[in-house]
Amino acid sequence: MKPNLSQTVGEIAIAHPAAIRVFESLGIDYCCGGARTLKDACDHAGVPAVIALESLESANDGPVDTDGGNLAEASCQELIRHIVSRHHHYVRGETPRLLEMLGKVLDAHRETHPELVSLRDLFTALAQDLAAHMMKEENVLFPYLERMELAVSQGAAPPPAMFGSVEMPISRMLADHEDAGEVLSRMRALSSGYHAPDSACPTYRGLYVGLEEFERDLHRHIHLENNILFPRALRMEQESSTAVQERR
Ligand SMILES: [Fe+2]
Ligand SMILES: [Fe+2]
Repeated sequence: MKPNLSQTVGEIAIAHPAAIRVFESLGIDYCCGGARTLKDACDHAGVPAVIALESLESANDGPVDTDGGNLAEASCQELIRHIVSRHHHYVRGETPRLLEMLGKVLDAHRETHPELVSLRDLFTALAQDLAAHMMKEENVLFPYLERMELAVSQGAAPPPAMFGSVEMPISRMLADHEDAGEVLSRMRALSSGYHAPDSACPTYRGLYVGLEEFERDLHRHIHLENNILFPRALRMEQESSTAVQERR
């Protein structure tokens, strides 16, 4: 791939799925911070731009084991089904497992690693917030986006919504994502980048592997919503209301 420094990291991640791994390895935020240019994102992460460009240029755009570039062309309905079946399902399955592991590790290592208390508290709050957030997406926003897409595909105006414009629920979801991203950063700092101490037992190590995987999945999940689904829905609503006005 041949990215340039003035492209946004969200655009690069959409066009080149292999860039996601590069951003993850360099600690560059491509989901909540997807609207930053590559130059700004590098400055923000403290990564020399030349290193990011070299790493991106040598990354292979082959198939990746997760959300491929084909989702950039998917319909809202396909994107939503993918997000719910893959990412919402994953969050619901992993949070109880990780909370249980956190409890066990805390019982055994609280004395020597008091930071585990804060880690448990942050993850508990994150799990609760995500459960409520996903419910709002699945019960309110996503069904509306599917109905809007269907109406627009048939040349009709978007159906009336209790929230008015989709901008309203989307801005709430974006704020939730920002909060979740902030919690993930604090958890990463508390856990020294998920490096378990040398003396850590297998459960402790397994917990850090699981939390790091949870972080990676949530970043990819937020990327699909912030950088692909939500901008598409906003564009669709805008274009269809313009078309309706022109027909009047
Ligand atoms: Fe979601
Ligand atoms: Fe979300």
